[in-house]
This record gives sequence, C-alpha cells and structure tokens, in this order.
Amino acid sequence: METSSDCEAMDPDALQAAERFFDAAPPLSGESDVIAQLKAFVYKQNRSEKGRPIVCVTSGGTTVPLERRCVRFIDNFSAGNRGAASTEFFLKSGYAVIFLSRTGSVQPFCRDLPERPLLDCLETAPDGSLHARPQYEQTVLSALKAHSTVVADGTLLHLHFTTLFEYLQMLGLVGSLLEGFGKRAFFYLAAAVSDFYVPWETMHEHKIQSAGGPLAMELCNVPKMIPLLRRRWAPEAFVVSFKLETDMGMLMQKAKGALLKNGVHAVVANELHTRKDKVVIIEAAGETVLTRDSRDEDIEEKIVGHLTQRHRLYLKHGNGRERASDQAAPQSI
Ligand code: PMT
Repeated sequence: METSSDCEAMDPDALQAAERFFDAAPPLSGESDVIAQLKAFVYKQNRSEKGRPIVCVTSGGTTVPLERRCVRFIDNFSAGNRGAASTEFFLKSGYAVIFLSRTGSVQPFCRDLPERPLLDCLETAPDGSLHARPQYEQTVLSALKAHSTVVADGTLLHLHFTTLFEYLQMLGLVGSLLEGFGKRAFFYLAAAVSDFYVPWETMHEHKIQSAGGPLAMELCNVPKMIPLLRRRWAPEAFVVSFKLETDMGMLMQKAKGALLKNGVHAVVANELHTRKDKVVIIEAAGETVLTRDSRDEDIEEKIVGHLTQRHRLYLKHGNGRERASDQAAPQSI
C-alpha cells in the first residue's frame, strides 16, 4: 500500500514557501470557469464504465512578468512538442488527458501542420468552396480524424496558461480536483517552469521607464511545487517530473537528487539539444535509457509506453517507487 511516508519526510520550509507563493499571487483570471470545466471533465471521466485513468500533461514554458500591467516578460525556449506528442500517446493508451499548456504552444494532433494552418493548408476552389491543398490533404485529414475522435469520446480537456502564476495556480486546481482519483491520477510535468520570478507585491505597476538608466532587478526563487502536489493536492497520484540541463555531467546528478528530494515516482532526464533523441528515466528501480531510432519516430511514444506500464503496476500493487531488486532490470530501449 502507498503511504504518505515519502511525503512526510519532505522539508516543511519548502511547503511553507509554496503556500506563501500562492497567498501573494495575483488572482487567477477566469478561475471559476476553469473550475467548472475541470469539474465537468472529472465528473464525466468518473462515470466512465472503464474506470479510465487520467493524466495531467503540462506543456510549454511559463512567462515571468516584469510589470503588473505587463509589457515585458521573461520567457524560455520550450515549444511544447514533448507535451503535445505525449498527450497523443496517452490518449491512444486509453487515458483521459488534462492538457495544461502554454497559450500558442504546440497542440496535440497539430504537430505536422504548418505554423499558419488555416492560411497555408486551405484554399478556395473556383466555386468558392473550401479545400485542403493537395500537399496537406493527408496531414489535415489525419489531424481532423484524431481530433474528432477525442472530441466524441470527451477524453481531452485543454487548459491554457501564459504566466508562471497562472501555471502554478491551475496546477493546484487540477491537483486538488484529481485527489479523488487516488492512484488512477497521473501527473506528467513536462512544462518548462521558471525557477525565478518577480513577486507580485514588489512588481512595478506600470511599464518600467528607460529614462532611469540601466535596469537592475532581483529575481526571487520560485518555490518547487512538487512537494505540495505530492503531499497536499494529490498524495496518491503517480507523479513524473522532468529535469532539463545543458551540462550532461550535472543532469544525471540533479535528476537523481530530484527523485529522492521530491518523492516522485520517476524523473525524466533530458539535455537541451539531444532532448528529441535521448532521455533517461530515473526510478528507484534504476535507470532506463530511451533513444529515438529514426527521424520518423517520436521518442514520446517510448516515454509514455514505459511510464504507463509503471503506472499500471502502481495501480495493481506497490507504491511505484520499488527498488531495483523488486523490478525488472534497468534497460536501454
Ligand atoms: O517543450 P519542448 O520544446 O518539447 O521541450 C520539452 C522540455 C525539454 C521542456 C521537457 O522535456 C522538460 O524537460 N521539461 C521540464 C523542464 C524544467 O522545468 O526543468 P527544471 O529542471 O527547471 O524543473 C524540474 C521539474 O520541477 C519540472 O518537472 C517542473 O515541472 C518542476 N518545477 C519547476 C519549477 C518550480 N518552481 N516548481 C516545479 O515543481
């Protein structure tokens, strides 16, 4: 049986810092609408006869506003490919998905479409009717089919964030609403979340003026929210976090540290420039190296395949954090 012992060992200061962050954050705009959408989705999945598992996939980068009436912000590289591709594979594996993604980032089933899908993919015939351009016909057809299937099944909920505040507040809402799913809930935290921010209470109200000379600003550390997810929001859920570094030497050390420190079930370690070709999944049982064999392949299929298998084991028995001696040997795939 899963106990909360892993979580109880967590640093109380980290929990307090996370709570302080929320107390000081600006109110989430459209919060009641987000809650209503989530409740309706969760209600629907709970009524599903198959007892479908549910995963929250987070995707894309968070912005860090520098002004309350925001003109300027800090952003990061994440395009949201990983989250969008993973969502497609979770849906194929029978999961319901809450896709919490950055506004404007890559969306499921749209990865092969051009950047301006409507303008580039479609054309009008002489009679004025609308058609897909021949070179995009297959891509548009398969995107439409896949999308219509999930719409008909009601298994995909899109939620969008832009700022760090919105992301963390929405993650908190999803976490609390999925508590009732117990072990059936899965968090796949692929979003690139800022580690630094300007607290709301010290943030400039208006556009920062350049007349004052060079700008010096101090950014504070964003508290890690995974302890709160593991301890308060959804203690029984299966949680997988991601670790990104640009220094390979540091990557493995930090990913292993994150597994122990945050009490998550697995950490997916990836390096910025090789992230589409290779990841290492770190679990209490050991390490699994996953690689992409060809450009036509999505490494996310292997990541999701591996982790859904681990989630199934977790649902069946155990706490999902077994040691190497309890599980099949670590492997390269
Ligand atoms: O979007 P793509 O371009 O396809 O790229 C995918 C990806 C590289 C962004 C993805 O695979 C990935 O690695 N995502 C996590 C990047 C990241 O934020 O790494 P991190 O080491 O800063 O954070 C580690 C974990 O802590 C993350 O799971 C994050 O959700 C979590 N976190 C981060 C900050 C914070 N304040 N609280 C958190 O809980």
